[in-house]
Amino acid sequence: MAMERTLVLIKPDAMQRGLAFPILQRFEQRGLKIVALRLVQADQAIASEHYAEHVGKPFYPGLIEYITACPIIAAVFEGTGAVAACRQTMGSTKPVEANPGTIRHDFGLEIGRNLVHGSANLDDAAREVGIWFRGLPVLDWKRATDGWVFEQ
Ligand code: RTP
Ligand code: MG
Repeated sequence: MAMERTLVLIKPDAMQRGLAFPILQRFEQRGLKIVALRLVQADQAIASEHYAEHVGKPFYPGLIEYITACPIIAAVFEGTGAVAACRQTMGSTKPVEANPGTIRHDFGLEIGRNLVHGSANLDDAAREVGIWFRGLPVLDWKRATDGWVFEQ
């Protein structure tokens, strides 16, 4: 399977509720490797760039207010099939439809307070990493345990 990188955001509700590290741990313990990490408060410009696909939808103003409300954590995770793996670990967008064992099920109830973002596909991942880590390094590093997570 192809090695991929994907963007994860720990959203303001998770930050306020003290769930940032328990959520990051879910991805880390699955075997995904952190290759960039940043505490950042999104301004209108970065929020509207990130959520450009949702402009004009009824929930858009609330979504921008939500994501800009306080500092959040942006992370890039690397691994085989990382894009789909992160989405699977997050669970369905609506927490009440998410499977038990997923982040959104285990920590949430409402779509507008669903704790975490993960890129939807490889193109979005590249675009979003560019938005949140513009001018900042995303590291290539080998973990001693890589061979015990990735077959090659
Ligand atoms: P995300 O982008 O945050 O990873 O979530 P997603 O792909 O599962 O969902 P998406 O359709 O991209 O929606 C982005 C975020 O907007 C909020 N939302 N609210 N009230 C609503 O109907 C509604 N729909 C979407 C959610 O916070 C969702 O994660
Ligand atoms: Mg999305």
